[in-house]
Amino acid sequence: MKTRGARAYWDGAAQSAAAWYVSTGHEHETEEFFQQGAAETDTFLSFCRVVPSPDASVLEVGCGVGRMTRRLAQLFGKVIALDISEEMLRRCRDNLSSFGNVEYRLVEGDGTLGGLGEGAVDVVFSYVTFQHVPTALAQLRYFENCARALRPGGKMAVQIRSSSMGAALLTYAGNLAHLLHGRRTLSRSWRGARVKASLVTSALHAQGVDATVLIWPHHPRWSPAHCWVVGTKKP
Ligand SMILES: C[S@@+](CC[C@H](N)C(=O)[O-])C[C@H]1O[C@@H](n2cnc3c(N)ncnc32)[C@H](O)[C@@H]1O
Repeated sequence: MKTRGARAYWDGAAQSAAAWYVSTGHEHETEEFFQQGAAETDTFLSFCRVVPSPDASVLEVGCGVGRMTRRLAQLFGKVIALDISEEMLRRCRDNLSSFGNVEYRLVEGDGTLGGLGEGAVDVVFSYVTFQHVPTALAQLRYFENCARALRPGGKMAVQIRSSSMGAALLTYAGNLAHLLHGRRTLSRSWRGARVKASLVTSALHAQGVDATVLIWPHHPRWSPAHCWVVGTKKP
């Protein structure tokens, strides 16, 4: 399966330049890095109409070093932080050592959730992760399993990349530019697979999630559009 090399790729990324691979533009896991993650978390939760609560639990797919997880742990009663990379998770655990409400899960990256039960969480959240998942099969399996993990009435806010040709070309050009700066961005584990939003919403509808796709409006003209898959699990 094409996801097989992905753990080695992301472990290597975490060891060489974790902050950059988590959020390009950053070189170190500084307070500013975490504050940017917190501001983005607040902005995207509000954009997706997810209201956090200390009584609610959230599953974060692709937590990285905890850039956004730290804010999620402040806003929610419980966070399940999931990642394919042992090294990302190790750093996440270190960075969030003062939080007692975060559970860490190492997953295979093929869309399985490490045994998370049906209806186990109130919210599923993910940012700049699905765009790296190397196969459409794994991405769709993540969506199906995340839908199953949501309790009735639970909310989903998952960012994916636009599958338009324009966005694909711009992303590829960006990856080439990153490569010139010594980053390993031509790997399939970074480039990921493109999945049509309509396939995602169909997969979610089949699992009882009313889902739509919102285009994030605030992006520079040269940057490929981010889309948010937003949905509510039917009672
Ligand atoms: C660009 S980082 C973003 C981290 C975090 N969401 C943030 O914005 O700070 C992508 C993360 O997704 C993880 N990842 C990549 N492929 C994955 C997969 N197939 N399953 C789960 N996690 C994956 C990587 O290890 C990495 O930690």
